[in-house]
Amino acid sequence: MTRLYLDNAATSLPKPPAVYAALQKYVTQSGATPGRGNYREAREGGQLIRQCRQRLCQLIGATSPDHVIFTLNCTDANNLAIQGLVRHARRNNPHAPIHIVTSDLDHNSVLRPIRDMEQDGVTWTCVKSDPVTGVVNPADIAAALTPDTLLVALTHASNVLGTIQPAAEIGKICRARNVLFFLDAAQTAGHISINVNELSVDLLSAPGHKGLLGPLGTGVLYIRPGIEHRLDSLRQGGTGSQSELDTQPIQLPDKYEPGSHNAPGIVALSEALAWLLDQRIESLRDHEIELNSRMLCGMQSIPSFTILGTHDPAARVGIFTLTHDSLDPHTLATILEDEFGILARAGLHCAPRAHSAAGTDASGGLRLSFSAFTTIEDVDRVLSALMHIHAAAPVVIQ
Ligand SMILES: Cc1ncc(COP(=O)(O)O)c(C=O)c1O
Repeated sequence: MTRLYLDNAATSLPKPPAVYAALQKYVTQSGATPGRGNYREAREGGQLIRQCRQRLCQLIGATSPDHVIFTLNCTDANNLAIQGLVRHARRNNPHAPIHIVTSDLDHNSVLRPIRDMEQDGVTWTCVKSDPVTGVVNPADIAAALTPDTLLVALTHASNVLGTIQPAAEIGKICRARNVLFFLDAAQTAGHISINVNELSVDLLSAPGHKGLLGPLGTGVLYIRPGIEHRLDSLRQGGTGSQSELDTQPIQLPDKYEPGSHNAPGIVALSEALAWLLDQRIESLRDHEIELNSRMLCGMQSIPSFTILGTHDPAARVGIFTLTHDSLDPHTLATILEDEFGILARAGLHCAPRAHSAAGTDASGGLRLSFSAFTTIEDVDRVLSALMHIHAAAPVVIQ
């Protein structure tokens, strides 16, 4: 039985072939640390890393490659954005209150840094999403803003419900109220078109290894030019630049990128971005909506399963979290793997409040997530497996 990987919301598999080729080429033919020497290998590595920043800019409508910061993953980027802003505000005015607005759809990589800073007096408001549509109402965000609000942090699409959030409207509200807007694009980058200017984004994080189709160990934080003056670095160290100083350089990207880069990962991510730009995000999105429609339509005839979130295929990314009338999500994941070779993820998906909002916080759900390489045949295989489980499972008398 061939195995069908459908945990692309955790990390995408497979990657475009050029990604594997670039990884292998870098580690076997160069292997140098970019920015740390003036020999050819180091120079070429530096150029490849710059090319990756440029491609990322092209993908998100940004203009300054220096404002694309490489991170370890999306969690690292989220920590830099949230903690870096708070740290700067605190240093500037140690006694001024700091308030953050977020939503119940946010991932623990946003919630946990905020909860941690609560101990230092940071306050926060968690806006509730609509229990039926899974969408955060921009008016509720506006109502949550106070004169002390520094930042609104929003997940662009829920990693549990798949629902795409009205980021442009929320961005506009933030800009008008002089509040910073940080968008966690972990589940949208590479899936839907993103233009940081149209979304009025001040900071945008993305993992390199999910929808952007790069390798694990890559992530990015885009910083709107000018915002770096309000964002402190969290780590300091060697950058290969201004080495006469024992203080952190202030120019970008060095300010936020101390230490040696994950050069093989970034060079491979660059190839993934080239692949995405070549395929065009709009076409990939059309394909994703087609997969969503097939899944939603097929699930209508499998009544023992419930899909969390909206049933509008164009209002969600290809993430489907399901519950079953009688089988718990972990049992479902085991059956899917053992009997059908389908790999899905059961549990709370590091988003406890999103599951509370959906009423699934006790044992979570079973998540199946698509990628650019998922086919209609793959979706049909899932539907057929779920139909088998439906037919074999004990019937629940309501
Ligand atoms: C919405 C969201 N934000 C952040 C992350 C963290 O990403 P990473 O695994 O790259 O740290 C995830 C991962 O699942 C996510 O879904």
